[in-house]
Amino acid sequence: MKIAISGKGGVGKTTLAALLAQAYADAGRTVLAVDADPSPCLAGALGFPGELRQQLHPIAEMDDLIYERTGAKPGTTGGFFTLNPRVDDIPERFSVSHRDVRLLEMGSVDLGGSGCICPESAMLKTLFTHLLFRKDDLLILDMYAGVEHLGRATVDFVDAMLVVVEPTRRSLGTAAQIKSLANDIGLHRLWLVGNKVRNEEEAAFLRAETPGIPVLGTLPADLAVQEADRLGIAVYDHVPALKREAVRMANSIEENITTLREEQINTN
Ligand SMILES: Nc1ncnc2c1ncn2[C@@H]1O[C@H](COP(=O)(O)OP(=O)(O)O)[C@@H](O)[C@H]1O
Ligand SMILES: [Mg+2]
Repeated sequence: MKIAISGKGGVGKTTLAALLAQAYADAGRTVLAVDADPSPCLAGALGFPGELRQQLHPIAEMDDLIYERTGAKPGTTGGFFTLNPRVDDIPERFSVSHRDVRLLEMGSVDLGGSGCICPESAMLKTLFTHLLFRKDDLLILDMYAGVEHLGRATVDFVDAMLVVVEPTRRSLGTAAQIKSLANDIGLHRLWLVGNKVRNEEEAAFLRAETPGIPVLGTLPADLAVQEADRLGIAVYDHVPALKREAVRMANSIEENITTLREEQINTN
């Protein structure tokens, strides 16, 4: 199962990615979590100890590896380099595992549009496609905004895209944009997750104003989330209310996907 998490900056994508990754890992699944944010912080949200975090390096910053695989130095344009470098060994070689969650950091690269044709983008695009094609038990992609990482060729492999929102019109506006971009590339399996919800009024606002995306669940606003960050421990361990809701959502995603698959089989 492959789950992509998107939404405006700061809404709680990384928090949700970490919660779901640990929920699935604790349920016995083999989880690969991919941090695709230019400034990675999923390791922190997962409570990875310092010595493991030191072993993690974003793939986009591995100049020697990119040179070895593409035949060109990162930062160079023009000249020749391979557009489909070997990447199949990268997830195992460069990821770090803690409490049954394997984590890979992608790092920053311009994947938007066709503008950038450079060795590092060739490498990351190929790696991204590879991750989506692989038969991982459970892949969680912490994306840094919208659907830039996904293309028409890969959407079929995304089982669910979660759009995280805060109970604000601005955040719902971004969700509407993400929905429209996702639909453009043929991705329709979207669910909304409300985060930092303070009361029933805000939860009702989200349900009423959703841009046509079914609401998967809502996570309460809780000061203990920031406290966990300060203490360097996982939200999953520190904030029981969020853990509970994440476990429920993790189950619900699987049920929703199974139902959708059955519907597709019946209509085909
Ligand atoms: N439910 C919540 N309650 C309180 N603070 C939260 C909650 N979820 C996230 N935060 C805080 O909001 C900030 C952004 O969260 P983060 O998960 O990093 O967002 P994103 O990955 O979307 O940029 C962090 O400081 C985090 O601790
Ligand atoms: Mg993030």
